[in-house]
Amino acid sequence: MQTALRTSLPETERAGRATFAPTARVVREERPVQASGLPLNIRGLRKSFGDNEVLRGIDLHIPAGQFVAIVGKSGCGKSTLLRLIAGLEKIDAGSISFGDAAIKPEDIRVMFQEPRLLPWARVLSNVEVGLGRDRSSSDAHARAEKALAEVGLADKRDQWPSVLSGGQKQRVALARALVSHPRVLAFDEPLGALDALTRISMQRLLERVWRDQGFTAILVTHDVSEAVALADRVVVIDEGRIAHDVMVNVARPRERGSAELAGLEGAILSNLLSADDRV
Ligand SMILES: Nc1ncnc2c1ncn2[C@@H]1O[C@H](COP(=O)(O)OP(=O)(O)OP(=O)(O)O)[C@@H](O)[C@H]1O
Ligand SMILES: [Mg+2]
Repeated sequence: MQTALRTSLPETERAGRATFAPTARVVREERPVQASGLPLNIRGLRKSFGDNEVLRGIDLHIPAGQFVAIVGKSGCGKSTLLRLIAGLEKIDAGSISFGDAAIKPEDIRVMFQEPRLLPWARVLSNVEVGLGRDRSSSDAHARAEKALAEVGLADKRDQWPSVLSGGQKQRVALARALVSHPRVLAFDEPLGALDALTRISMQRLLERVWRDQGFTAILVTHDVSEAVALADRVVVIDEGRIAHDVMVNVARPRERGSAELAGLEGAILSNLLSADDRV
């Protein structure tokens, strides 16, 4: 059964925040002018591995440009769902569609927990890999440089991956995912291996590029506070189905650690714990 918990700020609190927010961030509050995201329609999606029925009928509509976080206990099928969305795995039953638009392979990208950089290629070449078929085009370098600049690593273009920190490698992986201007970007625990401070700065970067580029974002995470800080909506998967579907109606920029986000996080965590209790 799907349920929706909604929260919203009292008007006074909203106004107070707007007063203190720097101008640049207020401007970013507006939706991107050219929303490039694709909507996702998932109907009756099923996937088994042998006798293991992992997904048992997932129904989910994601409007274009929405930021959705997917949470659930380990082994519940989150990565499987992302792999099916990205076309990396075959569907047993049901369907996944992306609106009426004709889509190209570059439109849908996945970023994983490990950066998966090519050790023998310099940073810029690693980003160019994300261009796929366009890699040989005359503007490939320029596009890769722009993507590197977006993640704040323009000065690392000629470095080898081995000399980068874990957070920098993840930013290169993000640039590689962004360079083709994906219309759906799926993240599978992309920040799971990072220390707490790097993780927070990467969360801000993810939110910024999502707002700037307008892709539809699907973030799998174990971290419920990360989910409520970043997403418009948090979907909880349990026993192969969507157990809860929670809207995060909290204005951006969000104040980390606010009572409002903490309350939402607590409600989702208790859903997850009660799901565990049934096992
Ligand atoms: N290629 C595969 N072959 C066989 N079983 C698989 C395969 N991929 C996933 N599974 C099984 O499907 C189930 C769901 O796996 P999945 O990786 O989607 O879980 P998850 O929710 O991402 O877990 P985690 O939070 O630990 O990453 C698990 O029981 C797993 O063993
Ligand atoms: Mg997983």
